[in-house]
Amino acid sequence: MPDDGDRHRQSRLFTDDDGEFDAERARDESLPVEDGEVIDTDELADHQRYLEGRGVYDERNRVNDLTGKEWKYATKSVIAERYPPDVQHDLRSEHGGQKPPRLCAELIGRFSKAGDTVLDPFAGVGGTLLGASFCEHEGTGLREAIGFEQTRRWIEIYETVLERENDARRARGDPPLAEQDIRHGDCAELIADVPEGSVDLLLTDVPYWNMDELEQTRNERATRESKLGSFEGDDADESAGDTASASDGGDDADAETQTKAEWLADMAAKFGRFTDAVAPDGHLVVFIGDMYREQSYEFLSADLARAIESTAPVTLAANLIWYDPTKDLHVYGYPFSFVPSMVHQNVLVFRPEADE
Ligand SMILES: C[S@@+](CC[C@H](N)C(=O)[O-])C[C@H]1O[C@@H](n2cnc3c(N)ncnc32)[C@H](O)[C@@H]1O
Repeated sequence: MPDDGDRHRQSRLFTDDDGEFDAERARDESLPVEDGEVIDTDELADHQRYLEGRGVYDERNRVNDLTGKEWKYATKSVIAERYPPDVQHDLRSEHGGQKPPRLCAELIGRFSKAGDTVLDPFAGVGGTLLGASFCEHEGTGLREAIGFEQTRRWIEIYETVLERENDARRARGDPPLAEQDIRHGDCAELIADVPEGSVDLLLTDVPYWNMDELEQTRNERATRESKLGSFEGDDADESAGDTASASDGGDDADAETQTKAEWLADMAAKFGRFTDAVAPDGHLVVFIGDMYREQSYEFLSADLARAIESTAPVTLAANLIWYDPTKDLHVYGYPFSFVPSMVHQNVLVFRPEADE
């Protein structure tokens, strides 16, 4: 089929040996990827549908509701998203580890479809749950979300946030956010009530392995002293740690006394059980920050990924980076030694392994 100029420039991937657009190959292989050019809908394969303003959707897509163009954008390994001052941010900030709901909505959009079930076994004040509700109005459709949280205060905050947010939305004439199912208790026990294979996406932000209290206090002091505002002040506490997401804001008694090895083993065992609940073509997506302490980089994300892979029947498919441009910089080490300002967190993406 001849390439008639602008009309068929959408696919550089389907070219013949001469670099010409190969429509037959495009139909046979039909990766739903475009360059944002005009699509000739007559040329679409049976399983392709053109969605006005969005691009070509491939009916065979089992991962998400994105069109080829949107999918291509969603393959970006870095997501820049600031902490939004909205969605009752001040209230949610009582929890030190809360995640931006729209960042969660973005990840939910990449790894689930409308109507799917999302589980967050460490729900906190409900970043994932709010994200699943946002998908109804700002994405491809509502997801049902289930959250487990062991601290009642965080559940109360989620409920109050939803109430206040919906009052504000109604006052603006916006439709309310759906209420999601948040359950109080230990995720290790609550997971038993979730039927096998019933979760399409597990999206969570794990509680941290805590440094001992003395060290934590020292690090908090160092953090305060080393913000750019005190650049001229006393500096160079090289032993200071910067915990990218370290505070989970929870009152996880175990975590306070756990060693790193115990924390890794605990997380691996929990993910082993969570994975049974995830559908074979689902995903597990896990936020985890790295740390800098004792003059070295603590690659927690890599350690956690390996620990989970060694216990749960999952394969690491990607490590995405969440970059928060609003994070404070510091001057630990200045002017003698380089210490990174941790303005990112890792987002580990796992796929369940296929049964033999
Ligand atoms: C990093 S925070 C999650 C924050 C959440 N992403 C948000 O947006 O608010 C981890 C949460 O897990 C909770 N947690 C820790 N261990 C738990 C357990 N065994 N069962 C249920 N919740 C647990 C903590 O109380 C804490 O709120």
